[in-house]
Amino acid sequence: MFLRNAWYVAAWDREVSKDKPFARTLLNEPIVFYRQSDGTPVALEDRCCHRHAQLSLGVVVGDNLRCGYHGLKFDAAGACVEIPGQDRIPPDARIRSYPVIERWNWIWIWMGDPAKADESLIPDWWWTTHPEWACTRPDPFHMRCHYQLINDNVLDVTHLAYVHSSSIGSAAINEFPMTTERVDGKVRMTRWIIDRPAPPMYQGFGQFNANVDRWQIVEHQAPCFSVNFAGCADTGTGAREGNRSGHRIDLMALSAPTPESENTTHYFFCFVRGFNLQDATTEKMFAEDFVRVFREDVVVIEAQQRRMESLPGAPQISIAVDAAPMAARRMLDEMIEKDVRTSR
Ligand code: FES
Ligand SMILES: [Fe+2]
Repeated sequence: MFLRNAWYVAAWDREVSKDKPFARTLLNEPIVFYRQSDGTPVALEDRCCHRHAQLSLGVVVGDNLRCGYHGLKFDAAGACVEIPGQDRIPPDARIRSYPVIERWNWIWIWMGDPAKADESLIPDWWWTTHPEWACTRPDPFHMRCHYQLINDNVLDVTHLAYVHSSSIGSAAINEFPMTTERVDGKVRMTRWIIDRPAPPMYQGFGQFNANVDRWQIVEHQAPCFSVNFAGCADTGTGAREGNRSGHRIDLMALSAPTPESENTTHYFFCFVRGFNLQDATTEKMFAEDFVRVFREDVVVIEAQQRRMESLPGAPQISIAVDAAPMAARRMLDEMIEKDVRTSR
């Protein structure tokens, strides 16, 4: 079951245009997106109320969308405003319209009761558009898995040692314990790896002369928003105590996997860095090498999903690294339960 009264990332801003409709299924609901003439994004049900043609096969006409079958025209609120060949428009000639907001270069959609859509619930991912940070915005992955497997993956950073051993992984990760806490409606996982060599990719970025102090901090908020704060600094320069002045690299991976269905997901993510802001080589490394690192997860997670489908109900065990993913699942379960109770 999905959390209905919540924002989800629906699309990158660049995916939705004034020129033609854009179709995407979210939480099992087929949705069509377009932009009005002033650029405002619109999300409507992708089903004409006449004979159920897909409106995404129609055309954008100014601020409205025309069905490509018999020409009914709908406004941004989902009301039919024109039926070719007749003057009368029946009152039930309308389709569902979804609240949307453009923020952090994404288009966010509210999938529940429009009256409950509260902008302040969108994560405050201000670094993505702040001039002191550079943001790399890859295309989303379409993944054959339940979105919670992606939440689990980003909340468990021990997998770096095995899945990403050639890039951001290092055996040292497992030497240092992590802590999991629930604060301010978020699950936070923290691990500091002190006085160890930088992993290969960080070494490439930072050219460290000796060992580093490395942080892995993940903050997750339901239903599917995670920030992985990552980086490292010359060892002993006080990074853990909050000293940001030493030689260091500082980056974040932002994850927003939006369910398409129970077993497929549109995985939106981006990278934010606080170093080499204008450097084209660094940008290329994030756009290509770091995306390749994420593709290593896709292989593992999709195989995991296939096995779960082929052996439904087979037992699992839980280990220490599951603390943060399990805390996030509990938090989401509580929110879904409350959402269902208060929506009755
Ligand atoms: S199905 Fe859309 S106008 Fe007929
Ligand atoms: Fe990973």
